[in-house]
Amino acid sequence: MAVLRIPDEHLTITTPEMISLQLAQLGIEYERWKPSRQVAPDAPAEEILGAYRGEIETLKQRGGYVTADVIDVNPETPGLDAMLAKFSSEHWHDEDEVRFTIAGRGVFHFRPHQGRVLALEVEPGDLIRVPTGTWHWFDLCAERRIRVIRLFQDPAGWTPKYTDSKVDQNYQPACFGAAYLKQSLPAN
Ligand SMILES: [Fe+2]
Repeated sequence: MAVLRIPDEHLTITTPEMISLQLAQLGIEYERWKPSRQVAPDAPAEEILGAYRGEIETLKQRGGYVTADVIDVNPETPGLDAMLAKFSSEHWHDEDEVRFTIAGRGVFHFRPHQGRVLALEVEPGDLIRVPTGTWHWFDLCAERRIRVIRLFQDPAGWTPKYTDSKVDQNYQPACFGAAYLKQSLPAN
């Protein structure tokens, strides 16, 4: 389950309803998806897409998305550093960024034109829909692994447009995860 942080206020939010409410203020949708049948996180892409067919079709109709694919990023991915560098500087896109996490973890930072930066750590089962034009950046967690379903309105147009604000340099791409939060609670 996702963890939402508001770094400037040292706030951490872990309940899905509260995370949805905070993100909704930026027009970002957050949902938890369950597969229609059990599917291994390393199953072939067709199997993954089949297990989430209902959710994908609903989302396609709602957002005008025309294609869905599965992308895998891990430490062995050729050119990983260059790929990550493209997305870890603040940018926006000419279409929505729609991502459903199947395996691994990563952190999105979102910066509203006015207001506080939000840091969302996504985990398997998390869907986010980030509207076109939203300022954001993305980092992987320490294990440098993520597998996601992506939906596109026009895959040909998928390029980051940079703000060059350098605001991203003020925020650590720290990953915590639910396991860490549980461990950090005082034992009694
Ligand atoms: Fe992006």
